[in-house]
Amino acid sequence: MKFFVDTAEIDAIAELNDLGMVDGVTTNPSLIKKSGRDIIEVTKEICDLVDGPVSAEVTATDAETMIAEGRKLVEIAENIAVKVPLTWDGLKACKTLSDDGHMVNVTLCFSANQALLAAKAGATFISPFIGRLDDINLDGMELIEDIRTIYDNYGFETQILAASIRSVNHVLDSARIGADVITAPPAVIKAMVNHPLTDNGLDAFLADIKAAEIKIL
Ligand code: G3P
Repeated sequence: MKFFVDTAEIDAIAELNDLGMVDGVTTNPSLIKKSGRDIIEVTKEICDLVDGPVSAEVTATDAETMIAEGRKLVEIAENIAVKVPLTWDGLKACKTLSDDGHMVNVTLCFSANQALLAAKAGATFISPFIGRLDDINLDGMELIEDIRTIYDNYGFETQILAASIRSVNHVLDSARIGADVITAPPAVIKAMVNHPLTDNGLDAFLADIKAAEIKIL
């Protein structure tokens, strides 16, 4: 499973990247706003840092302008994936940009039928938003399962990029189901290391190290 980091914060990306935890990065207008940076400038910095796909989202809602924005975004670096919303115009932009040979991430996916359309339009990635479905009492993981089944039934190569990941259990469930990629905030990825038995066990070992004066260096 690939790990993308869902942030436009350079320091957080760099820390995880140094550990080999970053297979790509996703951004969106809200994350760019939070960074306080210019979209082109910060996206270029991220692309310089990370080898894998870096998703940068268009701002337009009509296909023609989305395509023009996408063509400008892909000039930033070779590893740009143009992110378009799952609307009819977004699908038109997806088809054109993917036919041109660019990676496209179709975002704001909330149903399996939407994911089917995105695959047929040539999407490289489909981004179902798990957390936002859970927020309205629906089951985000059920959507990931449905998309996995449908894509496997017909051999679609579009990668399932589980997004709006809010917890470590979202990561685990996505991995169990077989999502190709998760994109998660840095804090969620770092929280995956936590286990109380690890902490307790280490405390006991440290006590014995002190009591027995065990030294290696
Ligand atoms: O990748 C999409 C993600 O940024 C949305 O997350 O938590 O705003 O629903 P959230």
